[in-house]
Amino acid sequence: MAAHSQASNKLDCPSLDRVEELLNATYTDHHLETHVNAMCQYVINAGGKRVRPRITLFSAYALPHFNKELHLDKVCHIGAAIETLHAATLIHDDVIDKAPLRRGKPTLNETDGNHAAVLAGDYMFTRCFNLLEKAHDFDIIIALNHTLSQLVVGELYQLENEGDINLSLDTYYKTIYAKTGVLFELAASAPAIFIKEDNNLIEPLREYGRQLGIAFQIKDDMLDYSADAQALGKDPGTDLADHRITLPVLVAINNCHSDEERKQLLKDIEEVNLSGVKAAIERTNALQICEQEAMKAADRAIDCLKVLSDSSYKESLIYICHKAVDRAH
Ligand code: IPE
Ligand code: IPE
Ligand code: MG
Ligand code: MG
Repeated sequence: MAAHSQASNKLDCPSLDRVEELLNATYTDHHLETHVNAMCQYVINAGGKRVRPRITLFSAYALPHFNKELHLDKVCHIGAAIETLHAATLIHDDVIDKAPLRRGKPTLNETDGNHAAVLAGDYMFTRCFNLLEKAHDFDIIIALNHTLSQLVVGELYQLENEGDINLSLDTYYKTIYAKTGVLFELAASAPAIFIKEDNNLIEPLREYGRQLGIAFQIKDDMLDYSADAQALGKDPGTDLADHRITLPVLVAINNCHSDEERKQLLKDIEEVNLSGVKAAIERTNALQICEQEAMKAADRAIDCLKVLSDSSYKESLIYICHKAVDRAH
């Protein structure tokens, strides 16, 4: 604890190197799997912020009954499984979104085509289960099951609402919870579930993850209109190109100054005129309004942490909430 308290970087995470090791160790040397292993490792080693396993580790270390000897290695396997699940969903997401760039590198759909990329994503799911079974814990399997079904629901919501400029805020929030919030919820609560902490701890940690995930996805949706590809490591403008209505656009539609401006914006959305939509977002202050919404969710997440006693790990969990909103990639 002392070493971590002195660390100036609040994202420095104890045991993340073990998670990194596991992320690469989960592949087999069966000759049929050589190529798919290489594809998966390409995505894993392209980088990524590792925010989900950091949450898992900080959350574990912050728990009252966390015992390094008894729990750490299994918690690392759970953290690696969650990051692997995340990477699998990214591979499939890039096929669905027709995205050419991820983590600063060409996507697998770009280098190997959709067919191979879908199989690589499927294969990555098997690696996730392989890591998770090492925890030997039925409650964690149940939690993962719930997460997986919600992730699919998130994609279904998105498909159902493609191009719907009348999308309600309620449906937007339901969608981002299902596609992103659930995995943060699992990342934050999995150690407490595994260690069999009291429900009075598990529930607030779930809520922390949920709210943090919502803040994180709102910011991702903002960056899609404000960042450049170099900083982001993925192509901005993808949401509009895929006819996905996200919060910046919804806010812009609701805050147009005249019917005429609104009509023009709807036309720009339909015709995928990125500069026109960006101009409307600018004129209506939509990004500032989105940022306030993201900050509210981040504050709600921080509030959930009051059930934990003070520690540098809790501070890191708080810091991640600020960082989720204040980031360039
Ligand atoms: C991208 O997640 C997908 C979203 C849920 C917005 P991250 O922003 O965590 O992606 P990596 O892992 O750092 O590449
Ligand atoms: C998050 O949504 C995707 C997943 C939950 C897999 P996005 O489609 O916005 O994520 P990025 O922007 O491609 O990373
Ligand atoms: Mg995408
Ligand atoms: Mg995005």
